[in-house]
Amino acid sequence: MNLLLEAIRGEPVARRPLWIMRQAGRCLPEYRALRQSHSFKTLSGTPDLAAEVSLLPLKRFPFDAAIVFADIMSPLPALGVEFDFAPGPVVADPIRDPSGVDRLRSPDPDEVAPEVIETVRRVRDTVPPEVAVLGFCGAPWTLAAYLVEGRGVKDFPMLRALAAAEPRLLGTLLGKLSDAMATYLTAQAHAGADAVQVFDSWAGLLSLADWERLIRPHLESMLTTVGEAGVPRILFVQNAPHLLGAYADLPAEVVSVDWREDIAAAQCRWPGRAVQGNIDPAVLLGGPAPTRKATEDLLGHVNRRGHIVNLGHGLMPDTPLQSIEALVEAVHSEDSDE
Ligand code: CP3
Repeated sequence: MNLLLEAIRGEPVARRPLWIMRQAGRCLPEYRALRQSHSFKTLSGTPDLAAEVSLLPLKRFPFDAAIVFADIMSPLPALGVEFDFAPGPVVADPIRDPSGVDRLRSPDPDEVAPEVIETVRRVRDTVPPEVAVLGFCGAPWTLAAYLVEGRGVKDFPMLRALAAAEPRLLGTLLGKLSDAMATYLTAQAHAGADAVQVFDSWAGLLSLADWERLIRPHLESMLTTVGEAGVPRILFVQNAPHLLGAYADLPAEVVSVDWREDIAAAQCRWPGRAVQGNIDPAVLLGGPAPTRKATEDLLGHVNRRGHIVNLGHGLMPDTPLQSIEALVEAVHSEDSDE
């Protein structure tokens, strides 16, 4: 019995599955302790340590999935990209012209983040079968945002400028990223990931028309290739209400939406597709009582069939652990006859 996979298939579940985006690290004191002696790059780049961090949240909370501890930037060294974390990604040589795009390599499958692939294998070997192991990657557009801008910048203006001035160059860049991410997710599936999540955190920067023209073909091709490996695909889309319909048309088994969306309405609109989310991560900062209330409201509002409980974006670093406990308790105590 694997609640997460049952929910993805839209089967009846004994209880709704629960995991939390960015559950590995961040607000855990034992993660902070590990970070005293190791950099993030060392932790995520060393399979022993990365597997240990992936499992930390499960030692405290009975989550239904473990997500492999890595970053959306982890596969990019294989393409020849150099970067650091400060604390977000900072790219040494931002890509803004044809020579930058030309320099990106097309890696062989076994060259793309082999340390992450090994971590997936170790995590799968360690957790019981009822816990799902999740692989992940960044969507081509979200990765391009960091590569073009060089770092996380509000509204990514240089990326949008490149989209307007050099649409073909952007297309070449997204095509290379899409191919490499398809290869990467397929390798994670072969290593034992039960499902894979694509993080499109900066999905909403362009209009629907520009998204259709410039971005959709690459995201769609990546998802289609990954689907050929037979692994369920979870597509996370953040702050893009005008694109939700378009995202729900993409080939993915699950659409994960942020807290601004009415997830129950999304569920009714696309029957047959599972949904994931979507409590506001900031609610947990407010403590256990508001967390319990938000969780109960969510459970009351969203049909249990095909619902994976999660936040609407990643867990915030200062989240009190008592709020996570309240979330778990509320999900676990839902009346099973409902
Ligand atoms: O769920 C998990 O905990 C798995 C690990 C994970 C990390 N990054 C570890 C990390 C995942 C799934 C990510 C995804 C990621 N990384 C996204 C998509 C999701 C989102 O939050 O929108 C994005 C945009 C990034 C880029 C990134 N990496 C940023 C903005 C930062 C800055 C700090 C932060 O925590 O957001 C990072 C560094 C990073 N990635 C850390 C961790 C635990 C912090 C490193 C540290 O310990 O200092």
